[in-house]
Amino acid sequence: MKKEPLFIAFSTQKGGVGKSTFTVLVASYLHYLKGLNVAVMDCDYLQCSVYDMRKREIRQLETNLHYQSKAIALFDSLGKQTYPIVCVKPEEAILKAREFLASEPADYDAVFFDLPGTINNDGVISTFMSMDYVFVPMAPSRMSMESTLSFIVPVKEVLREYKVLNLKTIHLFWNRVDGRIKKNWLEHYKKLICQFELLLMQTVIPQSVRYDKEQSIEGSDAVFLSTIFPADKNLLKGSNLDLLVNEIMEIINLNPQL
Ligand SMILES: Nc1ncnc2c1ncn2[C@@H]1O[C@H](COP(=O)(O)OP(=O)(O)O)[C@@H](O)[C@H]1O
Ligand SMILES: [Mg+2]
Repeated sequence: MKKEPLFIAFSTQKGGVGKSTFTVLVASYLHYLKGLNVAVMDCDYLQCSVYDMRKREIRQLETNLHYQSKAIALFDSLGKQTYPIVCVKPEEAILKAREFLASEPADYDAVFFDLPGTINNDGVISTFMSMDYVFVPMAPSRMSMESTLSFIVPVKEVLREYKVLNLKTIHLFWNRVDGRIKKNWLEHYKKLICQFELLLMQTVIPQSVRYDKEQSIEGSDAVFLSTIFPADKNLLKGSNLDLLVNEIMEIINLNPQL
Protein backbone atom coordinates (compact mmCIF):
# COMPACT_ATOMS: atom_id res chain seq x y z
CA MET A 1 0.00 0.00 0.00
CA LYS A 2 1.17 3.53 -0.71
CA LYS A 3 2.39 5.73 2.09
CA GLU A 4 0.13 8.63 3.13
CA PRO A 5 2.21 11.82 2.97
CA LEU A 6 1.79 14.61 5.49
CA PHE A 7 0.05 17.76 4.27
CA ILE A 8 1.82 20.87 5.48
CA ALA A 9 1.30 24.62 4.93
CA PHE A 10 3.10 27.80 5.88
CA SER A 11 0.05 29.94 6.10
CA THR A 12 -1.29 33.23 7.41
CA GLN A 13 -3.46 35.99 6.01
CA LYS A 14 -0.60 38.48 6.20
CA GLY A 15 1.27 38.99 2.92
CA GLY A 16 5.03 39.28 2.53
CA VAL A 17 5.81 37.50 5.76
CA GLY A 18 7.48 34.40 4.32
CA LYS A 19 4.84 31.85 3.29
CA SER A 20 6.29 31.13 -0.15
CA THR A 21 9.88 31.61 1.02
CA PHE A 22 9.60 28.96 3.75
CA THR A 23 7.59 26.63 1.53
CA VAL A 24 10.56 26.57 -0.86
CA LEU A 25 13.33 26.58 1.76
CA VAL A 26 11.86 23.78 3.87
CA ALA A 27 10.73 21.67 0.89
CA SER A 28 14.23 21.94 -0.64
CA TYR A 29 15.94 21.21 2.68
CA LEU A 30 13.90 18.03 3.25
CA HIS A 31 14.19 16.86 -0.36
CA TYR A 32 17.88 17.55 -0.98
CA LEU A 33 19.47 17.35 2.47
CA LYS A 34 17.27 14.99 4.51
CA GLY A 35 16.62 12.37 1.86
CA LEU A 36 12.84 12.78 1.98
CA ASN A 37 10.48 12.92 -0.97
CA VAL A 38 8.36 16.05 -1.17
CA ALA A 39 5.97 17.75 -3.57
CA VAL A 40 4.64 21.31 -3.61
CA MET A 41 1.10 22.39 -4.48
CA ASP A 42 1.34 26.06 -5.41
CA CYS A 43 -2.18 27.29 -4.61
CA ASP A 44 -1.56 31.03 -4.90
CA TYR A 45 -3.33 30.69 -8.24
CA LEU A 46 -3.01 34.26 -9.49
CA GLN A 47 0.69 34.54 -8.62
CA CYS A 48 2.00 30.96 -8.48
CA SER A 49 5.29 32.35 -7.23
CA VAL A 50 6.84 28.97 -6.35
CA TYR A 51 5.92 27.49 -9.72
CA ASP A 52 7.29 30.63 -11.43
CA MET A 53 10.50 30.40 -9.43
CA ARG A 54 11.05 26.84 -10.69
CA LYS A 55 10.41 27.96 -14.31
CA ARG A 56 12.83 30.86 -13.86
CA GLU A 57 15.48 28.60 -12.37
CA ILE A 58 15.17 26.02 -15.16
CA ARG A 59 15.58 28.78 -17.75
CA GLN A 60 18.69 29.98 -15.96
CA LEU A 61 20.13 26.46 -15.83
CA GLU A 62 19.91 26.30 -19.62
CA THR A 63 22.39 29.16 -20.00
CA ASN A 64 24.44 29.00 -16.81
CA LEU A 65 26.89 26.13 -17.07
CA HIS A 66 28.04 26.47 -13.48
CA TYR A 67 24.58 25.83 -12.03
CA GLN A 68 23.89 23.23 -14.71
CA SER A 69 26.85 21.03 -13.75
CA LYS A 70 26.12 21.61 -10.06
CA ALA A 71 22.57 20.36 -10.59
CA ILE A 72 23.70 17.28 -12.51
CA ALA A 73 26.20 16.39 -9.76
CA LEU A 74 23.53 16.87 -7.09
CA PHE A 75 20.92 14.69 -8.84
CA ASP A 76 23.55 12.00 -9.50
CA SER A 77 24.59 11.88 -5.87
CA LEU A 78 20.97 11.79 -4.65
CA GLY A 79 19.75 9.36 -7.29
CA LYS A 80 16.70 11.57 -7.85
CA GLN A 81 15.69 14.82 -9.51
CA THR A 82 13.92 17.97 -8.28
CA TYR A 83 10.59 17.74 -6.49
CA PRO A 84 7.39 18.34 -8.46
CA ILE A 85 5.58 21.70 -8.17
CA VAL A 86 1.95 21.72 -9.27
CA CYS A 87 0.01 24.96 -9.79
CA VAL A 88 -3.60 24.54 -8.61
CA LYS A 89 -6.59 26.57 -7.42
CA PRO A 90 -6.67 26.63 -3.61
CA GLU A 91 -10.19 25.21 -3.40
CA GLU A 92 -9.20 22.28 -5.63
CA ALA A 93 -5.82 21.69 -4.02
CA ILE A 94 -6.67 18.60 -1.95
CA LEU A 95 -8.44 16.85 -4.82
CA LYS A 96 -5.60 17.69 -7.23
CA ALA A 97 -2.99 16.60 -4.70
CA ARG A 98 -4.72 13.24 -4.26
CA GLU A 99 -5.00 12.77 -8.04
CA PHE A 100 -1.35 13.69 -8.41
CA LEU A 101 -0.21 11.31 -5.65
CA ALA A 102 -2.29 8.46 -7.11
CA SER A 103 -0.70 9.01 -10.54
CA GLU A 104 2.86 8.93 -9.17
CA PRO A 105 4.74 5.65 -8.82
CA ALA A 106 6.87 7.10 -6.01
CA ASP A 107 5.92 7.45 -2.35
CA TYR A 108 5.95 10.94 -0.84
CA ASP A 109 6.75 11.90 2.75
CA ALA A 110 5.28 15.40 2.68
CA VAL A 111 3.26 17.68 0.43
CA PHE A 112 3.59 21.44 0.98
CA PHE A 113 0.67 23.70 0.11
CA ASP A 114 1.48 27.36 -0.58
CA LEU A 115 -1.93 28.89 0.14
CA PRO A 116 -2.94 32.45 -0.77
CA GLY A 117 -3.15 35.10 1.95
CA THR A 118 -6.87 35.52 1.53
CA ILE A 119 -8.59 32.54 3.02
CA ASN A 120 -11.99 33.96 2.24
CA ASN A 121 -14.15 31.21 0.84
CA ASP A 122 -15.34 27.80 2.02
CA GLY A 123 -13.14 25.94 -0.46
CA VAL A 124 -9.96 27.59 0.76
CA ILE A 125 -10.93 27.15 4.42
CA SER A 126 -11.58 23.49 3.81
CA THR A 127 -8.14 23.13 2.15
CA PHE A 128 -6.57 24.85 5.16
CA MET A 129 -8.39 22.54 7.58
CA SER A 130 -7.25 19.50 5.57
CA MET A 131 -3.61 20.15 6.40
CA ASP A 132 -1.96 17.93 9.00
CA TYR A 133 0.17 20.79 10.29
CA VAL A 134 0.21 24.54 9.73
CA PHE A 135 3.22 26.76 10.45
CA VAL A 136 2.62 30.49 10.74
CA PRO A 137 5.46 32.94 10.04
CA MET A 138 5.01 36.16 11.94
CA ALA A 139 7.01 39.38 11.96
CA PRO A 140 7.62 40.93 15.38
CA SER A 141 5.55 44.07 14.84
CA ARG A 142 2.28 45.03 16.42
CA MET A 143 0.50 45.01 13.07
CA SER A 144 1.76 41.58 12.11
CA MET A 145 0.87 40.20 15.56
CA GLU A 146 -2.66 41.60 15.46
CA SER A 147 -3.22 40.31 11.97
CA THR A 148 -1.89 36.86 12.91
CA LEU A 149 -3.95 36.56 16.07
CA SER A 150 -7.16 37.75 14.41
CA PHE A 151 -6.67 34.96 11.91
CA ILE A 152 -5.44 32.12 14.13
CA VAL A 153 -7.57 32.54 17.25
CA PRO A 154 -10.90 31.83 15.43
CA VAL A 155 -9.29 28.92 13.57
CA LYS A 156 -8.23 27.47 16.91
CA GLU A 157 -11.79 27.80 18.21
CA VAL A 158 -13.10 25.86 15.22
CA LEU A 159 -10.52 23.16 15.81
CA ARG A 160 -11.51 22.89 19.45
CA GLU A 161 -15.17 22.52 18.49
CA TYR A 162 -14.76 20.10 15.60
CA LYS A 163 -12.32 17.51 16.81
CA VAL A 164 -12.78 15.43 13.65
CA LEU A 165 -10.88 17.91 11.50
CA ASN A 166 -7.61 16.71 10.05
CA LEU A 167 -5.51 19.64 11.23
CA LYS A 168 -3.53 18.55 14.26
CA THR A 169 -1.57 21.58 15.42
CA ILE A 170 -0.72 25.12 14.39
CA HIS A 171 2.73 26.50 15.25
CA LEU A 172 3.69 30.16 15.16
CA PHE A 173 7.26 31.27 14.59
CA TRP A 174 9.09 34.57 14.45
CA ASN A 175 10.47 35.59 11.09
CA ARG A 176 12.35 38.72 10.02
CA VAL A 177 13.56 39.49 13.51
CA ASP A 178 15.84 42.46 13.34
CA GLY A 179 18.83 42.42 15.73
CA ARG A 180 17.69 45.82 17.00
CA ILE A 181 14.36 44.56 18.31
CA LYS A 182 14.16 44.73 22.09
CA LYS A 183 14.16 41.38 23.88
CA ASN A 184 11.32 42.44 26.19
CA TRP A 185 9.10 43.09 23.17
CA LEU A 186 9.43 39.47 22.11
CA GLU A 187 8.78 38.40 25.71
CA HIS A 188 5.65 40.56 25.79
CA TYR A 189 4.35 39.07 22.53
CA LYS A 190 5.25 35.59 23.75
CA LYS A 191 3.06 36.04 26.83
CA LEU A 192 0.20 37.23 24.66
CA ILE A 193 0.56 34.16 22.42
CA CYS A 194 0.55 31.90 25.49
CA GLN A 195 -2.60 33.60 26.81
CA PHE A 196 -4.39 32.52 23.65
CA GLU A 197 -3.03 29.00 24.20
CA LEU A 198 -1.22 29.12 20.88
CA LEU A 199 2.01 27.23 20.23
CA LEU A 200 5.13 29.28 19.61
CA MET A 201 8.21 27.62 18.13
CA GLN A 202 11.62 28.08 19.73
CA THR A 203 13.44 28.94 16.52
CA VAL A 204 13.64 32.62 15.67
CA ILE A 205 14.49 33.53 12.08
CA PRO A 206 16.51 36.71 11.66
CA GLN A 207 15.97 39.39 9.06
CA SER A 208 18.69 38.64 6.53
CA VAL A 209 19.35 39.39 2.86
CA ARG A 210 20.17 35.74 2.20
CA TYR A 211 16.44 34.97 2.43
CA ASP A 212 16.22 36.81 -0.87
CA LYS A 213 19.25 35.15 -2.45
CA GLU A 214 18.13 33.33 -5.58
CA GLN A 215 20.20 31.80 -8.36
CA SER A 216 21.68 34.49 -10.63
CA ILE A 217 21.48 34.41 -14.42
CA GLU A 218 25.22 34.86 -14.75
CA GLY A 219 27.97 34.04 -12.33
CA SER A 220 28.27 31.38 -9.71
CA ASP A 221 27.11 32.91 -6.44
CA ALA A 222 26.12 30.60 -3.63
CA VAL A 223 22.36 30.12 -3.57
CA PHE A 224 20.15 30.15 -0.50
CA LEU A 225 16.58 30.26 -1.83
CA SER A 226 16.03 27.70 -4.58
CA THR A 227 13.69 24.96 -5.73
CA ILE A 228 16.59 23.13 -7.43
CA PHE A 229 19.33 23.36 -4.80
CA PRO A 230 19.39 23.15 -1.03
CA ALA A 231 20.38 26.29 0.85
CA ASP A 232 24.16 26.72 0.59
CA LYS A 233 26.07 25.41 3.64
CA ASN A 234 27.97 28.64 4.29
CA LEU A 235 24.84 30.76 3.97
CA LEU A 236 23.04 28.46 6.42
CA LYS A 237 25.28 29.68 9.24
CA GLY A 238 23.36 32.18 11.31
CA SER A 239 20.18 31.81 9.21
CA ASN A 240 18.59 29.44 11.76
CA LEU A 241 16.93 27.61 8.86
CA ASP A 242 18.60 24.35 9.98
CA LEU A 243 17.14 24.82 13.47
CA LEU A 244 13.70 25.53 12.04
CA VAL A 245 13.81 22.40 9.89
CA ASN A 246 14.89 20.23 12.83
CA GLU A 247 12.12 21.65 15.02
CA ILE A 248 9.56 21.07 12.26
CA MET A 249 10.74 17.47 11.73
CA GLU A 250 10.33 16.80 15.42
CA ILE A 251 6.81 18.28 15.46
CA ILE A 252 5.63 16.36 12.42
CA ASN A 253 7.53 13.26 13.47
CA LEU A 254 9.50 12.72 10.26
CA ASN A 255 12.97 11.20 10.34
CA PRO A 256 15.74 11.84 7.83
CA GLN A 257 16.16 9.05 5.23
CA LEU A 258 19.83 9.15 4.42
N1 LIG B 1 13.90 36.38 7.29
C1 LIG B 1 13.86 37.14 6.19
N2 LIG B 1 14.81 38.07 5.96
C2 LIG B 1 14.77 38.86 4.84
N3 LIG B 1 13.83 38.77 3.89
C3 LIG B 1 12.84 37.87 4.07
C4 LIG B 1 12.80 37.01 5.21
N4 LIG B 1 11.71 36.20 5.09
C5 LIG B 1 11.10 36.55 3.94
N5 LIG B 1 11.78 37.54 3.32
C6 LIG B 1 11.46 38.20 2.03
O1 LIG B 1 10.18 38.77 2.10
C7 LIG B 1 9.55 38.79 0.83
C8 LIG B 1 8.15 38.22 0.93
O2 LIG B 1 8.22 36.85 1.28
P1 LIG B 1 7.19 35.80 0.69
O3 LIG B 1 7.64 34.46 1.13
O4 LIG B 1 6.99 36.02 -0.78
O5 LIG B 1 5.86 36.22 1.46
P2 LIG B 1 4.37 35.65 1.35
O6 LIG B 1 4.41 34.40 0.51
O7 LIG B 1 3.97 35.40 2.76
O8 LIG B 1 3.58 36.74 0.71
C9 LIG B 1 10.46 37.98 -0.10
O9 LIG B 1 11.18 38.85 -0.92
C10 LIG B 1 11.37 37.23 0.86
O10 LIG B 1 12.61 36.94 0.29
MG1 LIG C 1 3.46 33.97 -1.34
